[in-house]
Amino acid sequence: MNVLDSSFLCLDIGTTAVRGIAHRVRAARIVRSAIHSVDSTDTVFALKAVIDELERQIGGHFDSAFVTGNFGPVVFDMSVQNTRWGGEHKITPGDVRTQIGKITPPDGFYPMHIVPLRYDGNTEKNMSTPVSRTDSQLISVFGVIFYANARLAQIYGYLRRAHIQAAGFFDPQFLLNFTLRTRHENTLFIDLGAAHATGALWTDRGVVWMYKTRTGGDEITRRIADGLGIDCDDAERIKRASMTAFPRDMDRFTPADPAYDFSRADIGDIAMPAMTEILDEIRAAAGAAITKYHPTKIILSGGGADTDSIADYIADIFGIGVQTVGADAAVRALGDYVWGTQAARVRAYQARRDTIAQIGTRLSQMWRIRRPRTQSIPILPSTLAFNMRAPQTYALFRAGGISMIHVDIMDGFFVDRVAGGIDELKYIRAHTRAHLYVHLMTESPAVWAADAADAGADTIVVSGGTAGVRAAVAEIHRRGRRAGIALAPDMGVATLKPILREIDDVLVMSVRPGAGGQEFIPDALRKIRTLAATRRKYNLGFRITVDGGINDKTAQLCWAAGADALVAGSYLAHSTDFPLAVQSLLKNHQ
Ligand code: DX5
Ligand code: ZN
Repeated sequence: MNVLDSSFLCLDIGTTAVRGIAHRVRAARIVRSAIHSVDSTDTVFALKAVIDELERQIGGHFDSAFVTGNFGPVVFDMSVQNTRWGGEHKITPGDVRTQIGKITPPDGFYPMHIVPLRYDGNTEKNMSTPVSRTDSQLISVFGVIFYANARLAQIYGYLRRAHIQAAGFFDPQFLLNFTLRTRHENTLFIDLGAAHATGALWTDRGVVWMYKTRTGGDEITRRIADGLGIDCDDAERIKRASMTAFPRDMDRFTPADPAYDFSRADIGDIAMPAMTEILDEIRAAAGAAITKYHPTKIILSGGGADTDSIADYIADIFGIGVQTVGADAAVRALGDYVWGTQAARVRAYQARRDTIAQIGTRLSQMWRIRRPRTQSIPILPSTLAFNMRAPQTYALFRAGGISMIHVDIMDGFFVDRVAGGIDELKYIRAHTRAHLYVHLMTESPAVWAADAADAGADTIVVSGGTAGVRAAVAEIHRRGRRAGIALAPDMGVATLKPILREIDDVLVMSVRPGAGGQEFIPDALRKIRTLAATRRKYNLGFRITVDGGINDKTAQLCWAAGADALVAGSYLAHSTDFPLAVQSLLKNHQ
């Protein structure tokens, strides 16, 4: 297989979604990548839709395809094989293969991964590789992950119907371990999937425990649907929008959905016990393995990982810190893994071309960018430039790894134009779990801020210079949201001095508020530098966000000046490849 000059496709086939990532590689360099996902229980349709879109973005057909996902029931086993030679014997690769060949799968199962955990000879224990040692006996211990033949046959069927021939199948936890586990850290992987949740414990030697629960996120949806007498599609949508592990008092009074009269708390009352059952099942099954291997970290993936505050909830149950890697983690890990297997050939190629230094730096930069992000991407698309009523916009944002959205609201008084509004904000809130950073270009900021908080804003920024800024900030904090102040181009940093200590965010306007697509005003850089210096000097905690005229060039100037996050409207909206455009705005991108 030569992926060094080709396009390769990675697929994560779940029960309710198919996710894909594709890389186009030229001369051992990834020159183009795209990521796309489709939610549908019709797997063949979803596969075709993902492939079509990725081929369009990559500009060509795929040469090879690799698959991970939900392949149904698993059986995990530790297999011990023992061969005695009745005398001294030099151990060959053939002997090791024979040991592996002795592993017999349970009825109807296929060994997806056979991970050597340990080799022991008669004279030597814990050999990492026994080949070419001389001994009279070889004892091998393997961790084996078996998948059900019937389910794999079904996946083959889906792929055939979508005209895909897979070059390799991988268990998702195997991939996440490969790309995300830190060396010497025993790690518990929990994947909250739709059909079931999976737990797996990985150590430096390999996988030592694995378990799938009987039910998953679909069961939570079913209980909401049954409990409230609504259909499953609505239940799924409302679950995603309002389920939270730690409900707030307010949730009793906050409607879960405009179309129904039950509250967010009603959803939580049904959903959280179901979620807790799933987690308790994993906890009970993992008990012995946790006691023996003391995992120091939980890595959380799958659709359920998007549930509000679920990471803290799981950390409480298990008493172990949780890192959330998001729903795309498995497919990204697959991409990294496949590319990682080429590392040696990439190096040889580079050596031949005598450009090791140059390409190496570039590859390492790509690595950094494509690795699944554990923290949010500090790029906020501005709603002014996108149609927020179109489902494609949300798919696009997901594909780009967006986790914060900048919602522009203009009241027609503070600026000449009317745009956005509380209804629009509510609509956005119902369609994404992203952090909503609301930019109020309005008079009466306290009134607007209260409405924005009710509509689900996470950060609320009011325009500096309007009447009642201080009251608005207090109001925002009273409602438990992040508060910020926007600094217009004609306002100096000094005007913020009295209130800097009280706010969470300063939005430096690098264009005149009122319209997208304007040119970046360089004076904003001086303000960013002053704010960053003031923050350092007085040990303050606000973040610096920059809004207006951001493109791949001005972005780098802002990062260099000390910005923490950037808002981008027209640059992202006019890009032909949204995920790449997002990446081109990240720090030090070349
Ligand atoms: C301007 C808005 C910005 C704007 C940014 O009044 O606050 O958020 O949409 O758009 P671009 O990036 O195109 O300048
Ligand atoms: Zn804005």
